Amino acid sequence: MGAFLDEIDLLVRSRHAVLYVVTHEEGRLEDLLFGQAHDQGKKLFGWTADRGLYEYLGHHEPGKGIADMKPPTEVLREIQRTGTPAIYLLKDFPAFFDDPAVVRQLRDLAQDLRHKYQTVILSSPKLALPAELDKDVAVVDLPLPDAGELLELLRAVCVELRRSDKEAVALSKGDADALVQAAQGLTLSEAENAFAKAAVTRGVLDRKDVELVLSEKQQVIRKSGLLEFHPPDTSMQDVGGLEALKQWLLRRGKAWEPKARAFGLPAPRGVLLLGVPGCGKSLTARAVAQAWKLPLLHLDLGRVFGGLLGSSEENMRKALRVADGVAPAVLWIDEIEKGLAGGMSSGQSDSGTAIRVFGTLLTWMQERAGEVFVVATANRIEQLPPELLRRGRFDEIFFVDLPDACARAEILGIHLRKRRREPSGFDLGGLAKASEGYSGAELESCVQEALFAAYDNGRDLENEDLLAAIDEVTPLSVTSAEDIARLRAWASTRARSADPSPEEVGEARG
Ligand SMILES: Nc1ncnc2c1ncn2[C@@H]1O[C@H](COP(=O)(O)OP(=O)(O)OP(=O)(O)O)[C@@H](O)[C@H]1O
Ligand SMILES: [Mg+2]
Repeated sequence: MGAFLDEIDLLVRSRHAVLYVVTHEEGRLEDLLFGQAHDQGKKLFGWTADRGLYEYLGHHEPGKGIADMKPPTEVLREIQRTGTPAIYLLKDFPAFFDDPAVVRQLRDLAQDLRHKYQTVILSSPKLALPAELDKDVAVVDLPLPDAGELLELLRAVCVELRRSDKEAVALSKGDADALVQAAQGLTLSEAENAFAKAAVTRGVLDRKDVELVLSEKQQVIRKSGLLEFHPPDTSMQDVGGLEALKQWLLRRGKAWEPKARAFGLPAPRGVLLLGVPGCGKSLTARAVAQAWKLPLLHLDLGRVFGGLLGSSEENMRKALRVADGVAPAVLWIDEIEKGLAGGMSSGQSDSGTAIRVFGTLLTWMQERAGEVFVVATANRIEQLPPELLRRGRFDEIFFVDLPDACARAEILGIHLRKRRREPSGFDLGGLAKASEGYSGAELESCVQEALFAAYDNGRDLENEDLLAAIDEVTPLSVTSAEDIARLRAWASTRARSADPSPEEVGEARG
């Protein structure tokens, strides 16, 4: 957990004396802070509204209370008074933020302690920082446990299991690493539960439990409500056209190899897919994870902003923390602009909150070390904040246009094959010609309609059915021609074409 302590250290050295750590893992925080205080020759004090102020004498060893000081204003006054180099962990302190005296005192303290060796840490599972404290209190997330911490936990669990039954554990070093990797993205106590559950299911903890721990993790993450593991159900072969994009992705995929890092390549960060509805943006997002053999996490922005799950800023931080924990992974943010618009207009959150939540996402995208690849999709450019498009957030921005004739033939082929029809039995060239201006989604529904018609007529699918279905549809490119033209004009200077074949360029622009 070096990174977290380094961040705290950096904040302290840049004269931030009051920090707000958001975490459910209080015990782990105590442990980390005790180690830090010990290394720096400082004392660690704790405070709760119930116990008052006490000193930690060892790991997990809060000593006797040294003073009553249960009222929050008293403990703050005490910290201000003494000059002992120390870290003060004030638990659930944010619960007192609605008292103006407390807020005022904290602000004064933040200024006073800038030149002293005292650090105040407010901890709470929730993030609720009043605007008055924005400048004086730095918010830090306690990241989820890293592989080292989880391995330590697994060791402790194994020792415990072996104590009652010598045969209860059958793990090689490799198996243990696989279990640890499966548990990444969980808190320590969640991981402990998952390991324990896995151990009792078949009476032994072994390699086969990797699956169990993985599915336990998926459930835990689903319960958090914002992120969802997406099953790997789409491959690059399911995506027709978009050759430039596919090639770019396959090339970037190689940058995940450790060898590539040694070679000097940065970890891939993300891609933004903009474009015409129904042309394969979401489809490609799902295919990336499978192509790279990484887990796919879907971030539901609508829910982040929905307000049903509590503070949206906290939700966003939580989701990003889990994504960081699961890394390496692909984080899919679908229709990124809709989440934003929802946040702006929903009654629950004012536009200030929406901007802050989005800021959280942007900062994370800018500052994270890598290992989480973001695939964001959007089709309404007016709603995209310019900051999102700035260099550095994404490795590349692609514009996904309507498929050209060649891509249309490919897409028809893909969907025929999905429905167990051999594409070579149809005149794909002719069908592609007849469907100029059709999106991938529209082509798919033509295949579907044609199948219905054939079934209705009591025979197998024929080329004529497909032609008739194509003839029936008025594509979006006709009904929304202006929107699409605007999108193209906008993208021509800002995004790279996902399929820049000469034919397509001629067809689309002409
Ligand atoms: N390039 C394509 N190749 C194969 N199938 C496609 C393609 N584009 C679209 N489809 C089909 O249409 C469906 C909808 O496409 P998708 O969800 O990827 O569109 P989108 O670009 O994300 O649109 P929106 O902007 O409306 O979200 C896909 O699930 C797939 O079946
Ligand atoms: Mg989509």
